[in-house]
Amino acid sequence: MEMIKPGFCLFFLLSILSCANRREMIDYDINTKVDSILSIMTLDEKIGQLQQLHYEEENKKELYDKTIKGRTGSIFNLTDPVEVNKVQKFACEKSRLSIPLLFARDVVHGFKTIFPTNIGLAATFNPELVKKGSRIAAIEATSHGLNWTFAPMIDISRDPRWGRIAESFGEDPYLASVMGLATVEGFQGDNISSKTSLAATAKHFAGYGAVEGGRDYNTVNISRDVLQNIYLSPFRYMAENNCRSFMVAFNDLDGIPCTGSEFLVKKTLREQWGFDGVVVSDWSSITEMMTHGYAIDESDAAMKAINAGVDVEMESTAYADNLNTLVEAGKIDEDQINDAVRRILRLKFELGLFDDPYVDTNKVITNPPQKHFDIAYDAALESIVMLKNDGVLPIKSEQKIAVIGPMADDRYEQLGTWTFDGDTNLTITPLMELRKRNLSNKISYVKAMKHTRDLSESGFREAKKVADKSDVIVFFLGEEAILTGEAHSRATLELPGVQEKLIKYLAKTGKPVVLVVMTSRSIILTNILDDVDAILYAWHPGTMGGRAIADVLTGSTSPSGRLPVTFLRTTGQVPTYYNHKNTGRPTTEPFIPMEQIEWRAPQTSTGCTSKYEDVDFHPLFPFGFGLSYTTFEYGDFRVLSESFTETREIMCSVTIKNNGKVKSKEVVQLYIRDIAASLVQPVKELKKFEKVSLDPGQRKTINFTLTSEDLSFYDLDGNKVFEPGEFELMIGPNSQEYASKTIFVSN
Ligand code: GLC
Repeated sequence: MEMIKPGFCLFFLLSILSCANRREMIDYDINTKVDSILSIMTLDEKIGQLQQLHYEEENKKELYDKTIKGRTGSIFNLTDPVEVNKVQKFACEKSRLSIPLLFARDVVHGFKTIFPTNIGLAATFNPELVKKGSRIAAIEATSHGLNWTFAPMIDISRDPRWGRIAESFGEDPYLASVMGLATVEGFQGDNISSKTSLAATAKHFAGYGAVEGGRDYNTVNISRDVLQNIYLSPFRYMAENNCRSFMVAFNDLDGIPCTGSEFLVKKTLREQWGFDGVVVSDWSSITEMMTHGYAIDESDAAMKAINAGVDVEMESTAYADNLNTLVEAGKIDEDQINDAVRRILRLKFELGLFDDPYVDTNKVITNPPQKHFDIAYDAALESIVMLKNDGVLPIKSEQKIAVIGPMADDRYEQLGTWTFDGDTNLTITPLMELRKRNLSNKISYVKAMKHTRDLSESGFREAKKVADKSDVIVFFLGEEAILTGEAHSRATLELPGVQEKLIKYLAKTGKPVVLVVMTSRSIILTNILDDVDAILYAWHPGTMGGRAIADVLTGSTSPSGRLPVTFLRTTGQVPTYYNHKNTGRPTTEPFIPMEQIEWRAPQTSTGCTSKYEDVDFHPLFPFGFGLSYTTFEYGDFRVLSESFTETREIMCSVTIKNNGKVKSKEVVQLYIRDIAASLVQPVKELKKFEKVSLDPGQRKTINFTLTSEDLSFYDLDGNKVFEPGEFELMIGPNSQEYASKTIFVSN
């Protein structure tokens, strides 16, 4: 084992003495240590740090061998703490340089305790709660030996056909930024070297949510304006706020795979945004550049990825098999590899792995404590969006309830996608909870369908029997986990199977019908909206979903979720989102159904504006929408500073009052519109929101502060631009209902 040369010790000590402050001292300290290790690494050992390997029982011997030889720097998908320590021991005690390994996993919306899928977490509009959830996930995951998670996914998702909308925080850049940072802060904790900290990963960089046709992994083309101001927005925010790693996306962006994009990684992420963390490929996305038709062979792929600035290769081995030769041939410079190795070693120092690389196997969390379930319950509760209520909710205690449907009692499916480590034995389903509460046996249950995709109507009759002898029908439906998430896109967005038919069949009983929809995309509800009396959108609510849903159904709590995505009338409206451009011909006339257009109507008689002839182009439910068991009255919207210089802040306020009889939470939303700018701006953009709780009759004044940052946008080259001029400020309960004021902002 080669010792570190004495000269470095002296240099090290001298350099420490010259440090100005603690943070500089830490950086200097880590950078010095990193450079001293780097100086004694062989090229093969450096390349080894760039290799991330997937752990499988059948490949573990090979993985042990590579670890001892220093040919891997990180392992993913190993969650057995004893095995983690065994592999870590090979790295720290058997390899030449004793460099510890990183252990990574997709800890996306929980580990053992599962929280709502991210789109449901977004619907809480409660970043503090989301942060608590990811903190709990980190505590559980690190107890199993993990120290790196491939989350949060912050891809802007405007297309519900795309299955991965489930993992996203929806269509809005501001909401995705706020929720993404809350997730990062929860994962990384207050001190990233703590034993309960996970390095977070902003993914998938970039534009993945804009896959053509909503078909996963498909090609992506985005205008420079929309790229800078919509799709890059949350990633820029993560880079500015110390998220410690990024993952490049599978897709090509404007003809160049993200994994080989020097524009995205080298120029934008590293040079323009100053990101100094680790960039990891997606699963074999380096070698997939050959499939894309961007690399001619693995050597070419390796060169393009390292030139772009991708540090870690997940799963494929293009780096391990080719970088050495590429350096020797002078096709790449060893310094490029040195830079990547520095970032990886730095992350390991930041995580404290050089000081304490092992997991304490006496503290493995296999049975999460109650407080984990309490936060998961809060998150599930606050994610539920009430879309409709004709008065049938809340259900009265004396009412007999017919619980029907394939999602009423499925401990696995209600957890949603990306729940590899979720413990289904912990799941509380709606049926379990309703039965527990309703001891006088007022609950009758029929699943009626094998699963949500079932095409058989054989369960309908039994469902009707149960419905006939009940006072209210609660139908639990939606999509199983397999219908959303990675590689699970759909070309149609209606409810799968015979669910719509069953709803209409049950509606014919004349009993009130309550839908509880469990899925993680915005399903098309148009065809059944008039057949039901109430709709609760519960997403995939996670471990505590049943208790949360029961509390809303019975009125213990008023629903407070708000839509993080626009709900469409028909799939043909995709993409439709709230922060759209105005166009030169916005539609203001009411929708006239195609059937009502006069025979031989003159060509221009239906109006030359941006609309459809066959469907009302407005959404079925708008971004930010959600009902509660009370009503809120908004008033006294004030802007406290009519003119504005770049140094001052715009202060505005509004009062809201709870006009009902129950305590409820409201999400007060502030949107802006830049009326005229050098780049056309959206008709509205969410810039602030605040979730407030109000007792019956209580009134509160909500204050918002806007800075020039909030009124800025990015030009085509990604430079922030603030242009004085007219701005419309809008405050209200959602993106369609608001009071507005126009102000003139001077320089
Ligand atoms: C997957 C996903 C990515 C995930 C990675 C590791 O293909 O695209 O989100 O983190 O592989 O599981």
